[in-house]
Amino acid sequence: MNPADFQVWSREVATRMEAALGELLPPQSIAPARLHDAMRYSTLGGGKRVRPMLVFAAGLVSDAEPVRLGVAAAAVEMIHAYSLVHDDMPCMDDDVLRRGKPTTHVEFDEATALLTGDALQSLAFQLLADFKLSDDPAVQLKMIQIFAVACGSRGMAGGQAIDLDAVGKSLTLPELEYMHILKTGALIRASVLMGAHCGRPLSTVELEHLDRYAKCVGLAFQVVDDILDEEADSSTLGKTAGKDREANKPTYTTLMGLSAAKKFARELLADAQESLAGFDARANRLRELADFIVRRDR
Ligand code: IPE
Ligand code: IPE
Ligand code: MG
Ligand code: MG
Ligand code: MG
Repeated sequence: MNPADFQVWSREVATRMEAALGELLPPQSIAPARLHDAMRYSTLGGGKRVRPMLVFAAGLVSDAEPVRLGVAAAAVEMIHAYSLVHDDMPCMDDDVLRRGKPTTHVEFDEATALLTGDALQSLAFQLLADFKLSDDPAVQLKMIQIFAVACGSRGMAGGQAIDLDAVGKSLTLPELEYMHILKTGALIRASVLMGAHCGRPLSTVELEHLDRYAKCVGLAFQVVDDILDEEADSSTLGKTAGKDREANKPTYTTLMGLSAAKKFARELLADAQESLAGFDARANRLRELADFIVRRDR
């Protein structure tokens, strides 16, 4: 595995994603123009596109068609963009900077930001109904179910609820882990499983190993997000650094300290890699992505 090669691949996925999202999002010229403008503003032209990369990398393991993966990845990225728009609103984290630009409610207004999230969410599900993602309709239905659970009260939205409830409180480590698994881990896990399900059927054991990989990477992603909030600067992050401490949020760094949080992220990375031990070179992009997620600087 060579890092330059991974960089080329990740740029290709990002470019493909930008094009797919540009096509799939309603054009700004169509009414309601302001809402469509805000949906495009929130989704296009930024972000690391980690979840689409996970969809594509998991799809390599099951030899899935790139067109199918593009649709699944666009759906995941729309949900992610919606989660960020709402996360930044004054009623949640009250942030003004995202991906180096003013947040959606600042650039537009709060009602538009709320509706942007709503509309991105339903468009994501529409895509999973509009396009063929598996040869087997029962598998496609399963994908929609996995996705719905990952977005809802037992997934991202539930994790966000726990996050807001935890402001100013001290959580135990298991409580913090549960919050992170839901608010960030769930969508990352769904990205991997959906990508895998776009291709040939995998065995139960293979799916279990991929799932274990996805759980480790999903938790590691938010642990690193907590570390970066503490350590990185706003211009690198494209979002306001130090917000968790300012908002008195329990995080891995406040609970464990920086160096223990970093050690924990490395342990999760090792666990993720171990889960892929039984796979051949087709899992190499997943291996590289786990590395990237833990070692990233933004
Ligand atoms: C930020 O996600 C929010 C979390 C779930 C931690 P990303 O770090 O993937 O944000 P973008 O998409 O790159 O902007
Ligand atoms: C957000 O977590 C998780 C979401 C579901 C959006 P954070 O609140 O830590 O994300 P950032 O740091 O604002 O990107
Ligand atoms: Mg938040
Ligand atoms: Mg936030
Ligand atoms: Mg954060």
